Amino acid sequence: PPPLRVDLAALAPGQKLSLTWLGQPLWVVHRTPQQVAALSNPALLARLADPQSQRPGSITPTGARNATRSLLPQWLVVVGVCTHLGCTPLDRLTPGAGTGLPPDWPGGFLCPCHGSTFDLAGRVFRDQPAPDNLAVPAHRFASATELILG
Ligand code: FES
Repeated sequence: PPPLRVDLAALAPGQKLSLTWLGQPLWVVHRTPQQVAALSNPALLARLADPQSQRPGSITPTGARNATRSLLPQWLVVVGVCTHLGCTPLDRLTPGAGTGLPPDWPGGFLCPCHGSTFDLAGRVFRDQPAPDNLAVPAHRFASATELILG
């Protein structure tokens, strides 16, 4: 199929866009500057299983193996499928406690099936059923707000 162009200009900071590409659910989150900065918090990094996506066989393209796990810091682009058994994680984008979440929850995603938690870079926390971070699909940006999938 031809590449899919997605105009992100109207997606406000803090919002998430869901779409389908090649039969897979994809999520795009417009992270705020505060959310981007929080991704490098040492206290958060210490709680993640593979914070730099360095695990052999990591499902993260080389260009996204960085502090924000993305090509552009503000844009998280991930496959919305839990790496455990394929359930759809739920949005828990804002910090704060909630059912199934630690009291110092930094924002991210919670899988309803077996409780795996992921941060706002799709990075799985330590000691979760999910064995890896959420996958980052092949993509690029034509501009700061034009995403190209495929
Ligand atoms: Fe997500 Fe099991 S499928 S934790």
